[in-house]
Amino acid sequence: MTATTPSQHALSDDILTTTEQDAGLSADQLAQLVGLVDYDVSKDPFPVTGWDAIVFVVGNATQAAHYYQSVWGMELIAYTGPEHGVKDHKAFVLKSGSIMFVLKGAVSPDSPLIAHHAAHGDGVVDIALEVPDVDQCIEQAKSAGARVVQEPETLSDEHGSVRVAAIATYGETRHTLVQREVDGVRYAGPYLPGYVPASSSYEKREGAPKRLFQALDHIVGNVELGKMDEWVDFYNRVMGFVNMAEFIGDDIATDYSALMSKVVANGNHRVKFPLNEPAIAKRKSQIDEYLEFYAGPGAQHLALATNDILRTVDELVKEGVEFLDTPDAYYDDPELRERIGKVRVPIEELKKRRILVDRDEDGYLLQIFTKPLGDRPTVFFEIIERHGSLGFGKGNFKALFESIEREQDKRGNL
Ligand SMILES: [Fe+2]
Repeated sequence: MTATTPSQHALSDDILTTTEQDAGLSADQLAQLVGLVDYDVSKDPFPVTGWDAIVFVVGNATQAAHYYQSVWGMELIAYTGPEHGVKDHKAFVLKSGSIMFVLKGAVSPDSPLIAHHAAHGDGVVDIALEVPDVDQCIEQAKSAGARVVQEPETLSDEHGSVRVAAIATYGETRHTLVQREVDGVRYAGPYLPGYVPASSSYEKREGAPKRLFQALDHIVGNVELGKMDEWVDFYNRVMGFVNMAEFIGDDIATDYSALMSKVVANGNHRVKFPLNEPAIAKRKSQIDEYLEFYAGPGAQHLALATNDILRTVDELVKEGVEFLDTPDAYYDDPELRERIGKVRVPIEELKKRRILVDRDEDGYLLQIFTKPLGDRPTVFFEIIERHGSLGFGKGNFKALFESIEREQDKRGNL
């Protein structure tokens, strides 16, 4: 495990991605939201500025775009589809604070998205990252043996140019690398060339908060038994990511199922990828269930960072989002209360909403997990509010996994 130091001094705003700047976030606010650390970018073989966009393939992008606005408070900012020369699919770009989701759905019966959706259901196809220099990254990726699935190319429209390329990661997931400044000029369009600015006639309910989450904290990947270390090595070797934490053995075993997890992160921890593999136990691991229903490795959950988890959860519950349940015993446990100490709200407020809490040497965090978002028991979201802690809620793993197992059991998959 690598020792880390939370950023002690004010961070410069020039570390922010374009989307983060547009969201009005300062580097210090971002550091609090997602737990940034100091690092020396000059020694980084594969510098990453931050998340660019998370691209989902879904069964019905038109309806999903409405769901992410009405339920998750996101804002529609760009669109492409048959009206703009893209004959086979529609794509809606939604934004919340510093993060963009792109929802793609097939229009024509021979769209390649159909086969992807038939195999995997709704899920993440692309975890796109903003980088300052695509060519440097691809050169590094090739020399480290990565599979390049798109060679560097410059895309242009009336808003300017971006340079993009892509490398393959676990399963059918890819990392598109997006360089938004070409020859000293930043791309001025809403997303990528080919997309047009879009807005929606959807109106938020009166009194609804401006947004329900401000940033993306981490994305967890589920990989097959025995493959976790290969992917940790991939991120170390190809992308220069550092090992941040590992959870093995008793850390994340319940009486019935188990998994192993290691976390890799880019230098300043802006981009964090926990990687899970199933572990042998009495019954079927939640990771096995995912691998079976996603038909292979893929992104398991996205952790959305908020500075007011109580409000976010209240709004989401009003909209019908279902969260995993936690038994009263969790909150009534004197050992937990002792370990957690004082947090910004009374434990009773957390208990009412089934929000979990964990503390480590750097501070504490509040977190809660949704049930699967689509029809298959695969992708879900975590809501996280960090107060100094750079961890992932290790103290909650047992309670969380028991809750997941109760759901797995209802589905007949435990
Ligand atoms: Fe998480």
